[in-house]
Parts: sequence; structure tokens; C-alpha cells
Amino acid sequence: MALLVPAQAEAQSTDERRMVPQGTAVRLSALREDSRYRDTFVREFGSLTPENEMKLEALQPRRGHFAFGAADELVRFARRNDKQIHGHALVWGLSLPLWLIDHGATDNLGLRLPPIVLPRLPDALGETVGTVATTLTGWRRDELLSVMRNHIDTVVRHFAGDVQEWDVVNEPMAADGTLAPTVWRRFIGPDYIDAALRAARAADPTAKLFINDYSVETPGRKLDGLVDLARDLLARGVPLDGVGLQMHTHIAAFPDESAITNTMRRFERLGLEVQITEMDVGTSLLDVALPKRLQRQAQAYGAAARACNAVRACTRFTTWGFTDRLSWLGAGESGLLFDHGYDRKPAYAAVRGGFAPLAAKKAQTSSKKRSAPSWKKLTAARRYGSGH
Ligand code: XIL
Repeated sequence: MALLVPAQAEAQSTDERRMVPQGTAVRLSALREDSRYRDTFVREFGSLTPENEMKLEALQPRRGHFAFGAADELVRFARRNDKQIHGHALVWGLSLPLWLIDHGATDNLGLRLPPIVLPRLPDALGETVGTVATTLTGWRRDELLSVMRNHIDTVVRHFAGDVQEWDVVNEPMAADGTLAPTVWRRFIGPDYIDAALRAARAADPTAKLFINDYSVETPGRKLDGLVDLARDLLARGVPLDGVGLQMHTHIAAFPDESAITNTMRRFERLGLEVQITEMDVGTSLLDVALPKRLQRQAQAYGAAARACNAVRACTRFTTWGFTDRLSWLGAGESGLLFDHGYDRKPAYAAVRGGFAPLAAKKAQTSSKKRSAPSWKKLTAARRYGSGH
């Protein structure tokens, strides 16, 4: 703590002293069963994003029947431990219950099929599969619009006061910068995004509303499309507070700091917040020894943390899980900040260093004997030391 006092005093007069809360996706099952998982989360992170518990398939497994049990348990856990919640995700083309795809056919037959998780398909193939799956049964625009509005309204009201931010629309963009052909776009039309954001704002005027997507960290048609979408929404007065960059990346090709900074600034110039929402860095592709791969992984994480620290509009840095033991990438990818045994990896120090205020960085380099302040202390100091 002694190290933090001068650092804090000096940094308060500079832009370096920023509060960038750090979060992670969590799984309720692991929080329940694994005390090391729970303790590590509580010690290291300021916010959680439910990995699956607030998705449509979890909250509305049958049309009109809401199941809040698991998500409510996560909310109680977050409250008890004074953690914020980034809600995820109200409207998405994947992780949908079957009734949304087959227009209620299975529900009507009384079948209780488990929700299906459609794999991410290449855009062209996804279009075909999606078209076949949905045109067989088909939705009327007004019917699906009311399903979507009812879902958003019910869920956002239910969690109002507990969930401060929502990914209202997840992964709306296709690789070519047009809107992805989800069931929502296909049957409601491109204005499903307007309707979703307006419904969320009406249900909880205090929640911050985000659009979240992947492969938009670096320049390209997809990023251009997302910037155009955001600009257009704002110009038409549609409520939107920020954009999430998922940042699922890999040591074979990850964006460097300036690429990420430039991307963030494009949204900042529109007056939006920007967050890194789902970062992980796969390590399997390069055929070199593990320590080398972990060093490269640390570079990828460090670049993202420094970019987020440098851009005022960046308001949260979230990884998609924290231990390699429990990652959607699979254990073999070693994509997160802590290893299987919950030990800190080089990536952990890189993120911590990326967010260290200027004075703390100077102190670290000028005195090798001093150990760096813990990430938690830095986060806490930032939280109370800045009006950002
Ligand atoms: C993933 C979860 O991690 C998996 O457990 C689940 O089976 C599928 O979804 N982008 C997103 C997240 O926005 O919701 C996805 O999460 C990962 C990709």
C-alpha cells in the first residue's frame, strides 16, 4: 500500500489515473462447486458477466415461461460480494431455444427438448441453415417483434437495479459489414436493433446499453459496418451507450496496441463507451514450447490492457473466464489469465502492468527490489481515486 500512496497522489493530476474496472465471465456451477474458483474471482475481479445464465435459452426455455433461478443466484452472489454485473445477452442469433427457431412446433407437441447450441457457421452456410430452419415454420414480423420486446422487457425489469449494463444486441454484424442473417434480422428486419435498444431503455432507463461483437478489433469491413451502424443509431436518436469488443483472439495473430486504440477511438469519437468484453487468447496454433507461447499470450493481453487504459472511453476490461480449467475454448488452449491450478500466468502480470498508473510503472522500473502492487490494490485505488 505504501507504494500506492505517492503513485496515487501524482497520478491524480494526470490522465493515467483511470478507473478501469476489470471483470470476467463466470459460471454459476463453478461458483457453487469450486471454492478456489469462487475465491479467485472474489479476490481479483470487480464485475462478472454471466457466461450463459442470462442468455435467452436459459431465461425463456419455453415461450412465455421464464426461468430466473440460476441467474437470480448469480445476482445474489454478486450483491453479497459487492460485484457489478454486465448482463449478457438479450438478443443474439445463437444459443437460442428450439421454440424460437421452429416457431413453437416442439413446444406445441409437448416435447421438452434441451436448448440447442448452434455452432458458429461460416456466413454463407449459416445463411442457408438458418433459412431452412426458420422458413419451414416462419415467423410473422409483428409476432417475433412482440416476442423480442416481451423478452427484453421482462428480463430487464426483472434485473433492474442489479444489472448495470446489458449487451442488448450480440453479434449483429456479418463479416462483410452487413447485418448477420439471424432469425431476428430475417423475420423482423434490420430495424430489430432499434426496437431492441428502445425496449431495453424503456424497461430500465438507468442501465447502459451495449452492442457487442467479435472480430471488430482491427480495421476491416466488419468494423466499418459496426461503426456505421452505431453512427446511424445515434443520429436517429436510438438509445445506445457503448460498444463491446469481444476480443477472442489467438497468439498466431492478435491486434497490437495501436490497432486497438484506433478502433476504440472510432467509437469514442461517436460519444460512445467501449469495452473489451470477452477477451481470451488461444495458444494452440503456434508450434513452440509452452513458455514461449505464454509470453506471446502475455503480449496480446498487455496490448489490449494498455489500449483500454489509454482511451478514456474504455470503461471495462473483461476476460471470458479466468482459469484455463474452465474455458469455452477448451483446456488445451490455455487462453486465460490463471492456469488450471489457479496460478497466475504471465498474461496476468501483463494485464496488471497495462493498467498500472504512470507513477506505479516508474516505480516498478526504477526499483527492482520493490514488488509490484497487487492488481486488486491498484483496481481498488483506482476505483476510489478517480472520478471517471
Ligand atoms: C459461449 C459460452 O462460453 C459457452 O459456454 C456456450 O456454450 C456458447 O457461448 N461470444 C459470446 C458468448 O458472446 O456468449 C459466447 O459464450 C462466446 C462467443
